[in-house]
Amino acid sequence: MKKGFLALCIASLAAFSVACGADVNEGGSSSSNNDDDKVIVMGTSADYFPYEFVDTANGDEIVGFDIDIAKQVAENMGYELKIEDMDFGSLLGALNAGRVDFVMAGMTPTEERKENADFSDIYFTAKNLILSKGDAIQSLEDLNGKQVGVQLGSIQEGIAKDNIEGAEIVALNKIPEIIQEIKTGRIDAMVIEDTVAKKYLDQDSELSTFEIVDEEEAGSAAAFRKGDELRDQFNEELNKLIESGEIEKLAQKWFEEEAAPAE
Ligand code: ARG
Repeated sequence: MKKGFLALCIASLAAFSVACGADVNEGGSSSSNNDDDKVIVMGTSADYFPYEFVDTANGDEIVGFDIDIAKQVAENMGYELKIEDMDFGSLLGALNAGRVDFVMAGMTPTEERKENADFSDIYFTAKNLILSKGDAIQSLEDLNGKQVGVQLGSIQEGIAKDNIEGAEIVALNKIPEIIQEIKTGRIDAMVIEDTVAKKYLDQDSELSTFEIVDEEEAGSAAAFRKGDELRDQFNEELNKLIESGEIEKLAQKWFEEEAAPAE
């Protein structure tokens, strides 16, 4: 925003409240009031170790694979990154309402989502598993009549509906909530990405998984408002990081080396 315009807005705030409101900010606009420190706001759902999670040992900072990528891309684009944490199911709504400038949340660019957002190239892929407690559930058939947890608004919701017959699908907001429900036996199983399941499997030997064989791998990409040129700028920088091997390095850091924090 130009300084003159800002001054004008402040001077006549009442009259201009609508015009200013878009920029003077509910925390969500890439334009900032000082050209030297442009801020870009990313929406995420920090319940997804190691993509994005709250590092409780370090002042509740949100960190992870997506965050490292976003920070580097934002910096190379000349922005300072600000993060807004929310439920996964609210992310695309917040994007289209202008509360965030883009979304990174291990989000898979599905056809349905592409109707409401433009996606970057895919920077990582993972498979989907069924996770349950004990060894009673060994196949999709064993889930008939059982309760299967999924994150609300995630592709896992669709995967559960398409692949499991006769189960009740229970959609909850946060992944750790679903894990908790399984541990206490209130629900029987969940659909979860292999990369995200790993932490919980490492921490609790009673949990077990099997792969949903017919399902394609699911990729992660960043989401932008439709037609927003930020997507192309982001993509250009993202691809530089892919080509230089930087994304691979970050993947190793977060998916292979990083020890999961205790809950
Ligand atoms: N990849 C899945 C999807 O796009 C799940 C992503 C969940 N992400 C999160 N931060 N909780 O639907």
